[in-house]
Amino acid sequence: MGLFTLIGTAIFLYYILKLADFVRFYFFRPSDEYKKYQQGPQPYALITGATDGIGKSLAKNLYQKGFNVIIHGRNEKKLMATVEEIKALREDGTVESFLVDATSSSIDFAGIAKRFNDLNITLFINNVGGTYLEAKRFEEWSEGDHLAVIRGNALFPTFLTRAFLPSLRKTSLSHPVLVVFNGSFSAELAIPRIPLYTASKAFIQRLPSSLRADERFIAGESNIEFMYVHTGTVQSNNIIASTTFARPTSDEYATHIVKALGGGRVEVVPYVGHQIGLMFIRALPELLLQRFLKEEAKGLFIIGTKKSKKE
Ligand SMILES: NC(=O)c1ccc[n+]([C@@H]2O[C@H](COP(=O)([O-])OP(=O)(O)OC[C@H]3O[C@@H](n4cnc5c(N)ncnc54)[C@H](OP(=O)(O)O)[C@@H]3O)[C@@H](O)[C@H]2O)c1
Repeated sequence: MGLFTLIGTAIFLYYILKLADFVRFYFFRPSDEYKKYQQGPQPYALITGATDGIGKSLAKNLYQKGFNVIIHGRNEKKLMATVEEIKALREDGTVESFLVDATSSSIDFAGIAKRFNDLNITLFINNVGGTYLEAKRFEEWSEGDHLAVIRGNALFPTFLTRAFLPSLRKTSLSHPVLVVFNGSFSAELAIPRIPLYTASKAFIQRLPSSLRADERFIAGESNIEFMYVHTGTVQSNNIIASTTFARPTSDEYATHIVKALGGGRVEVVPYVGHQIGLMFIRALPELLLQRFLKEEAKGLFIIGTKKSKKE
């Protein structure tokens, strides 16, 4: 076999394997691998930013699947209403909650973790995040505004996870524990006008694999897994827009995230419509990519204007 034939065959096999993996992951993967995290007495899923959008859908979905849940929010009335809404879905579960503004500069992370220390938390989902959707220039935002975006998207998940890690590690001695970080396509796509959201999500994208490596370096074989969820556009309270194949509802998207739990991958794009969109975007030449991102930014700010009128 000549060298070119050999290289051609290797490339062909590479793409065949990638295609097989794509088909298996999106169409044939088991939908109950999350059960790996339903072990021990009264398993809990903790979900941040769970009073609306994807977080609330995740909390409802997991509660209906038999998890007890701990939900987090920043608006007391909305948090209490969400607790009641979730409780109504099942009779024998427990719904706990905690209230804290993720952008605050004075959060008692250790105090929050201590409150839930005795619970069997097996799924820990860092979902909270978001950004301003107003078309201001970078320097028009105050330092405080910029810090709020970094705190809400990067520092809050980091330090909340840090505070819970010792008790999660203890739990993982008897059964598996999974820590999830919900990110965004903007981690790799530089959408104009939201640079610190983009940078914070890029931070979050790298965190799970680094934590995983760190955990294994110290503990050798570990029962605690970390996972990054690469999220495209989803209809939610933040993104008030019609649904399309590439933009599912929060409820639909939550079912795909739950289906991806327990598959053993460190980074996932849970929804096939997002993955196909991403493949096209990644293939765009630079000039077209820039045009596409400009249009995305315009779309986001139209959504932002609609949202602020609604509020
Ligand atoms: N939707 C999308 O298209 C999309 C795309 C990529 C990534 N994501 C990511 O997915 C995650 C969820 O987004 P979403 O679209 O579902 O958002 P959402 O509908 O606005 O819901 C966000 C949730 O987080 C809470 N929250 C927001 N800021 C908070 C703060 N400072 N302190 C405490 N709680 C706070 C909200 O509380 P309130 O109910 O009080 O507002 C709500 O419960 C975020 O990390 C986001 O970056 C979303």
